[in-house]
Amino acid sequence: MRQSTFVTVIFFSLLHGGNEDNSTVDAQKLYQKCAGCHGSDGKTVALNVSPMIAGNDKNATLIQLQSYQQGRLDTVGLGRLMSTQVNRLSPNELEALAEYISKMEK
Ligand code: HEC
Repeated sequence: MRQSTFVTVIFFSLLHGGNEDNSTVDAQKLYQKCAGCHGSDGKTVALNVSPMIAGNDKNATLIQLQSYQQGRLDTVGLGRLMSTQVNRLSPNELEALAEYISKMEK
């Protein structure tokens, strides 16, 4: 049941990827609180352990952010810490952040 909900969420986000109007969300401002760990250019290895995020695929990044929000991603043992970063963000805000990150120079 939980698994199928997750799959539905992913399917839905892929379906709508790129089609939503995020003009009301200020991604650059939202990203300020991420920059402390990931760097303003997205190239910092956060806490010396995270993968680099700059220029990653938008949908893949969105799925990661959604997974952190749902407490389902824990790549290097700090998934909980990432969950607290995104748990209050709306679906639009997550998408705007994913787009912002995907447009960073790799
Ligand atoms: C306190 C430091 C810190 C802050 C602030 C932070 N992150 Fe992270 N981030 C991490 C760590 C550590 C990981 C690896 C977590 C794990 O074990 O899965 C990570 C992982 C990620 C990943 C997955 C990268 C990959 O390829 O696996 C993305 C995307 C990401 N963060 C985006 C963000 C965004 C967007 C924000 C701001 C809303 C943010 N982070 C704020 C430390 C931070």
